[in-house]
Amino acid sequence: MSVLVTGGAGFIGSHTVVQLLEKGEDIVILDNFSNSSPDVLDKIRQISGKDFGFYRADMRDAGKLDTIFTENKIEAVIHFAGLKAVGESVEKPLEYYDNNINGTLTVLEAMKKHGCEIMIFSSSATVYGNDNPVPFVEGMKTSATNPYGWTKVFIEHILEGVCASDKDFSAVLLRYFNPIGAHKSGLIGEKPNGIPNNLMPYIVKVANGEYDHLNVFGDDYDTVDGTGVRDYIHVVDLADGHLAALSYARKNRGVQTVNLGTGKGTSVLELVRAFEKASGKKVPYVIAPRRPGDIAECYADVSKAKEVLGWQAKYDIDDMCRDNARWALKL
Ligand code: NAD
Ligand code: WQD
Repeated sequence: MSVLVTGGAGFIGSHTVVQLLEKGEDIVILDNFSNSSPDVLDKIRQISGKDFGFYRADMRDAGKLDTIFTENKIEAVIHFAGLKAVGESVEKPLEYYDNNINGTLTVLEAMKKHGCEIMIFSSSATVYGNDNPVPFVEGMKTSATNPYGWTKVFIEHILEGVCASDKDFSAVLLRYFNPIGAHKSGLIGEKPNGIPNNLMPYIVKVANGEYDHLNVFGDDYDTVDGTGVRDYIHVVDLADGHLAALSYARKNRGVQTVNLGTGKGTSVLELVRAFEKASGKKVPYVIAPRRPGDIAECYADVSKAKEVLGWQAKYDIDDMCRDNARWALKL
């Protein structure tokens, strides 16, 4: 029996595949490299010393999905594949709805046809919208402020519907907070195309001299130092959360929604200082206006992850910065 990992060549997927292979799981990856590259597969083999099945395909290709499920005995799907840039989703809503929602429906149809009844889904803290109080708790109402976020809200509802209609189906909806860091080998990590939207990849490009400064979006929030606070989580901790979710789903049926974060908030300036300390590089910054759509604080209530999955994050912000710097600056 194998675990199908959609988007397994991506940032979070590749780290999760490494952890799964280490645990002795049999893996098949599906990726179309729309936001990743084939060399990641060799890096995964290099780190783990193990091999896995791979299909270069679009998850919306129902024929290809049928082939994958026919050629392999797929017991569970860990579903990372999707487009994830918030700003781009506002410019290209149809592309986002088509890729993320139709893609997920195509995967679910193939699962149904071939009797596969476990899905671990990559949801996001973005589904808490902009008017819930922190810390975010799984039972809070969900909403979104952009098409990307709506795809996550809708897919969560789709999986609730699937579980309601099929009592043997098991879905774990993992709401990730802000993943950063990289594998300790320095061989895999985040590699965004173009100008990064997210804070850590931008910090990296300032530290390596590509940009001369970071724009800090607002210093007048009601937070520890006025800058935005987020719950950064090491990508390897996040990957381990998927192993815990998989083992939960093998024993339980129905839908379960779980936050994956550390429960601790870090401000923009705290992250800048931690990265400077870990890398020995300067990260000059200027205070810029607030970024539209941003909230002051976003961090998780992590009690459910501990109770239900028996999982909690191990790494702190210094570990995240050290591993991120090793990967991105080749230190
Ligand atoms: P990523 O872009 O690095 O990985 C996604 C992978 O999916 C890529 O390798 C891409 O090529 C592949 N893919 C996209 N569309 C596909 C398709 N139609 N068919 C086949 N492959 C396809 O992103 P990531 O950061 O690893 O995120 C993984 C998942 O987690 C995404 O669903 C994302 O929305 C979600 N998520 C990410 C974050 C984050 O900050 N990185 C936060 C919350 C949730
Ligand atoms: C973090 C903090 C910014 C860049 C986004 C998505 C979310 C999820 C994770 C997928 C904020 C500040 C940033 C910069 C800055 N992705 N910042 N200068 O906004 O929490 O979440 O990624 O699901 O859906 O919205 O992360 O890294 O963009 O920002 O000052 O150049 O850094 O204002 O306070 P965010 P981020």
